Amino acid sequence: MKIFLDTANIDEIRKSLALGILDGVTTNPTLISKESHRGTFREIVMQILREVPGPVSLEVTSLKHDEMVKEAEELASLGNNVVIKLPVTMEGLKVIKTLSTKGIRTNATLVFSSNQGLLAAKAGASYVSPFVGRLDDIGEYGMRVVEDLKTIFKNYNYSTEIIVASVRHPIHVYEASLIGADIVTMPYQVLEKLLMHPKTDEGISRFLEDWKKVRL
Ligand code: E4P
Repeated sequence: MKIFLDTANIDEIRKSLALGILDGVTTNPTLISKESHRGTFREIVMQILREVPGPVSLEVTSLKHDEMVKEAEELASLGNNVVIKLPVTMEGLKVIKTLSTKGIRTNATLVFSSNQGLLAAKAGASYVSPFVGRLDDIGEYGMRVVEDLKTIFKNYNYSTEIIVASVRHPIHVYEASLIGADIVTMPYQVLEKLLMHPKTDEGISRFLEDWKKVRL
């Protein structure tokens, strides 16, 4: 399973790269806005693109086909690791098709149903991002959409990869890995929690205490 970080924070990206397990990054307008104190959109993005070897999703903010394509082409020109993130609306779907014929990779975002994911894959999306946490928030079982998309893409031999998004806690990562999702994009806080275990900490303390009794 590939691990992406869902952030625009360069410090979190650097810490995750240093662990040697980071495959890519996803951003969105909200995540970028949290880093505004660090510079302009372009400055924030260029720093991320320079440091991350894998795919980096950058979201368009226009809502009409022609403007979306123009914005996407500008973003795509910033680096060959750029993936264009766009919502699964009627216009968004047309843009996925347009960009895929131009060889620009896309990430269909704000996916809340398997039918949205199906259409995005059919239009040629490289990735689809079901938002599991936001579905859980309204009393639905978000991971069901991931399970369904996994089956649907297998049924029709689609090469579109599933990015499990809106991840809130380690159980989401656990469930996604059992389903066989291609990618999980997670906040840095969730990545940290994947390693945490009180018995590991307790074990280290005990070993270090006992080691003091060893004559060297
Ligand atoms: C996905 O790519 C989005 O950036 C993200 O996962 C949204 O998560 P949220 O629901 O925590 O905002």
